[in-house]
Amino acid sequence: MGCPSYTLGIETSCDETAVAILEGETKLVANLVYSQAELHARYGGVVPEIASRNHLRKLPYLIRETLAHAGISISQLSLIAATYGPGLVGPLLVGLSHGKGIAFGLDVPFIGVNHLEGHIFANRLSEPASNPPFMALVVSGGHTSLVAVPEYGEYQVVGITVDDAAGEALDKMGKMLGIAYPAGPAIDRLAYKGDHTAIPFPRPMEAAPGFDFSFAGLKTAVLYHLRKYPEEKPEDVAASFLASVVSVLRKKSIEATRRYHFRQLVVVGGVAANCHLREELVSYGTRRGIKVFFPPVELCTDNAAMIAAAGAFHFLHQGKSDPLSLAPAPSLGL
Ligand code: KG4
Ligand code: ZN
Repeated sequence: MGCPSYTLGIETSCDETAVAILEGETKLVANLVYSQAELHARYGGVVPEIASRNHLRKLPYLIRETLAHAGISISQLSLIAATYGPGLVGPLLVGLSHGKGIAFGLDVPFIGVNHLEGHIFANRLSEPASNPPFMALVVSGGHTSLVAVPEYGEYQVVGITVDDAAGEALDKMGKMLGIAYPAGPAIDRLAYKGDHTAIPFPRPMEAAPGFDFSFAGLKTAVLYHLRKYPEEKPEDVAASFLASVVSVLRKKSIEATRRYHFRQLVVVGGVAANCHLREELVSYGTRRGIKVFFPPVELCTDNAAMIAAAGAFHFLHQGKSDPLSLAPAPSLGL
């Protein structure tokens, strides 16, 4: 047997500084995430300059800490994978530069990873047997898309939000209720205390043909409702809002999975951490003969384990690596 191969993953596309070490293709040996959320909370969203500066401050320590957790030395790393897009250009540049620097210093290959593809690979870590073909619902703070995945590395976007991402709408709705950014986890908990039938919020594009989404109107509906009924119970607003979001995501993703003749649906990204979405989609899908997979919560929200997994796959299966001139790609798609 040869030496184990260790991939270092680095993720800094938004407000999470994350580092992970993967042995081989799917064995996660260390996975650390430092969230800057608190630093951005009072601004109601991510401030790019604050994000860049704090990635720069935290990343070198986090890399050392991750190596210590894994119990390996830096010289044992055989591949460096870092997110190169999509995301905020400054934050991306910090992670990329560190990754390239380590690769250059160790004289090991470097690979840039698409953050969205990374989210899809989170499922490979938790369910290594659930290989493509499958439909992927990528639902996060920055993206909401349905992606047909006949094979890893082959992606066909079959539906996408025409305005806000689901997580973005959740965060903005949370702001209206006075919930700090990112509001997703708090809304998730609050909704369990409320009545999801209390307010008949619209279910945008649910009945429309095709697999695109729209969440901006739903957010406006909450705004108007709260202006008209300022005494409305926040838990009922949260529950009713989530009921609409979950209903649309559930219907479109199961329909798309069937239309493309897949038997598996993989749900990834920060909003996939939502308990209501997890419960609803699993039972709705199972009744329709579709296996629905969700990574554990810590692999749904931004992390570097998924980045290492995507990088290791492309390097080990396709011999792919990138030149050290690779530039950040803030608007990268799948
Ligand atoms: O994937 P992610 O960490 O970052 C992006 O790539 O955007 O997703 C962050 C989004 C935020 O909008 C956050 O509010 C949402 O995921 N989120 C949740 C939950 N946990 C995080 N939304 C609903 N329920 C949750 N439990
Ligand atoms: Zn993400």
